[in-house]
Amino acid sequence: MREAAVGLGVRLVLLGLVGVIPAAAQDRPMQNLQYFSTDITRDSLVQEMRQFSFALGVRCQYCHVGGDGVSFEGVVFESDEDPDKRKARHMLRLVDVINDGLLPMMVDRDSAETRVTCKTCHRGVAKPALLTDVLLATLDEHGPDSTVTQYDRLRATTMASGMFDFGEWEMNTLAERLARDGRPQDAITIYSKNLEHYPESVSILLALGQLNEEIENVGEAVDYYRRALEVAPGNGFATARLEALTGRQRRSP
Ligand code: HEC
Ligand code: HEC
Repeated sequence: MREAAVGLGVRLVLLGLVGVIPAAAQDRPMQNLQYFSTDITRDSLVQEMRQFSFALGVRCQYCHVGGDGVSFEGVVFESDEDPDKRKARHMLRLVDVINDGLLPMMVDRDSAETRVTCKTCHRGVAKPALLTDVLLATLDEHGPDSTVTQYDRLRATTMASGMFDFGEWEMNTLAERLARDGRPQDAITIYSKNLEHYPESVSILLALGQLNEEIENVGEAVDYYRRALEVAPGNGFATARLEALTGRQRRSP
């Protein structure tokens, strides 16, 4: 997902720009309904549409072409020219297949049935993606500084709406994956950022100790193992690594 899309979505929802349709459009019958019943009133349809906008964090013009992109003047709601409108129609069918086709076939289904909605997947994001996916794409394309800046911005602007998971393990999982892929420096960047928010996490402190050892940054590794021991006195791994490292340090000139 592009960064711009996230930022835009947030701004638009905050501005509350979805809702008022010009009077001229109100009395015209709907021209091109392929999913909704043609008996649906314009009010009910627009209520459905507003749910789409909120679930995806976009304004109406994300799916509807024409006009100046701000007001509804000149928007051709019936046109299928915008691919996002066609995708949304496909999504409506996908949701029906899940709710009416697949979920009812589940054995021992909870009697309080849960239905999937656009928001279940989208959570205010036009193209649903996890924080780890968004950050990894930025890391690969623009490097560590942009990634850290993006994390800070997303945390500041989207935390309240629950677009992304800012819990400890979402970021740790990304860092683990980078470490496994032989990218210790990138893993250190991600863990260090996460440590700002979870300063007492033994998992993060030990991982940073190990990764710094891997890149032969012994001084830093020792500091992280010491911090881990402050949080978790007697931690076996930190104790063993400290002994090994400070022993080795003493031996070398
Ligand atoms: C995520 C994409 C999406 C967003 C956002 C969206 N729409 Fe739609 N809209 C659609 C789709 C898909 C249809 C066609 C539904 C069908 O085929 O039954 C449609 C149809 C319509 C129609 C009927 C047009 C016609 O004459 O056939 C109107 C009016 C409309 N939308 C208004 C709105 C308004 C107002 C908003 C903002 C509050 C909005 N839409 C936001 C996807 C969207
Ligand atoms: C089961 C999860 C799920 C549900 C429910 C769901 N979507 Fe999606 N939606 C996705 C995924 C995944 C993508 C990205 C697909 C891709 O391009 O790889 C997507 C993409 C889209 C896109 C294209 C966005 C873009 O910028 O490419 C639109 C528009 C959209 N969904 C609208 C809707 C609407 C409207 C609803 C509710 C009627 C809905 N979705 C329900 C998972 C879901």
